[in-house]
Amino acid sequence: MKTVVNQKIKLGSLEQHAKELIEISENKKVFILCDNNTEQCVNYLKNKISIFRNAGTYTIKSGEKFKTLKTSQEIWDFLITKKANRNDLLINVGGGLITDIGGFVASTYKRGIQFINIPTSLLGMIDASIGGKTGVNFNGIKNQIGLFNNPEIILCDPYFLKTLPKDEFLSGLAEVLKHGLIHSREHWDYCSSLEIDKLDILKIINESISIKTKIVCIDPQEKKERKLLNFGHTIGHAIESMLIQKHKQTLHGFAVASGIIIESFISLELNHLKEEDYIEIKKTINEIFPKLTFIKSEIPALIELMKTDKKNNSDEINFTLIDEIGHGIVNQNINTAQLKLILEKYLEIS
Ligand SMILES: NC(=O)c1ccc[n+]([C@@H]2O[C@H](COP(=O)([O-])OP(=O)(O)OC[C@H]3O[C@@H](n4cnc5c(N)ncnc54)[C@H](O)[C@@H]3O)[C@@H](O)[C@H]2O)c1
Repeated sequence: MKTVVNQKIKLGSLEQHAKELIEISENKKVFILCDNNTEQCVNYLKNKISIFRNAGTYTIKSGEKFKTLKTSQEIWDFLITKKANRNDLLINVGGGLITDIGGFVASTYKRGIQFINIPTSLLGMIDASIGGKTGVNFNGIKNQIGLFNNPEIILCDPYFLKTLPKDEFLSGLAEVLKHGLIHSREHWDYCSSLEIDKLDILKIINESISIKTKIVCIDPQEKKERKLLNFGHTIGHAIESMLIQKHKQTLHGFAVASGIIIESFISLELNHLKEEDYIEIKKTINEIFPKLTFIKSEIPALIELMKTDKKNNSDEINFTLIDEIGHGIVNQNINTAQLKLILEKYLEIS
């Protein structure tokens, strides 16, 4: 197993990187944050690295509805009760939800204490724990409150994926495939060429971490290149929000997968993408993910949801598209009237 591009991201077993973890923890009180599903991962960590055995551990309930300021307050209370001070350390053990809220809590507690991310979901390892975005949802809107701050180290041990539910794994795989589509034909070809259980998971995590790291290092504050990572998300988020309004819950990655197909179709319609590439993307995604769609009368509401996105003014929606498999293009503004026509055509032919 090897170390990935950014020196702070380590891919490998806990044992392999125990030395780094121990060094960072020296002379500090260590606290651990997890959710009710990742408590088992904390037990594994404590068994493997004995100095963490007595670390005070706070468990929150899993689920997006608990990614709030109220939960943050409970964690701050816990740290205060345990007399955590400026020199101490929080280790976040969980999926993207835990690394997001844990990073936020640590960065704001007593003006900021150090933290470590140990992501336990595929999405956490290849996406959420990397790039310094931390935060919580507010007034029902995702990730409204937060800040950019980086952990001391991110340690991805694929062992944790053994207990991750299959659908949660697939949710992360949608982001892996997106990395291929926006940045590496080779990564896409590999991930889409094999049955999922035959994939070399270490290889795909390593490649996806490299792609995300490369992009966020070029543009940490999402001024330009980081927008590449939004491919599939403009439509994906709108579908996700619409389903939530209908009380039909879906996984984020499943909505992104549908968003990838539709945004590839938009790329085709605007003459950026070849038809054979679009057909390949559609076939691959449909073989792996459940199909989420909408009906013609819902298109105006979907476009309204896209407009609520901070990047969009009233007449245009800002998209990241692709001009070939393996290459994304940012800042593609599309007029809402034209977008409506393209979405109608998509429904007609699919
Ligand atoms: N900061 C960023 O750049 C960024 C990027 C993408 C997503 N995110 C955020 O990440 C979150 C989504 O991440 P996620 O998909 O990991 O969600 P999650 O953290 O909610 O985890 C998904 C589910 O899997 C469970 N789980 C995680 N690891 C497990 C394991 N090893 N064994 C058993 N169960 C396990 C969790 O308890 C949860 O029920 C969202 O809140 C999203 O906003 C942040």
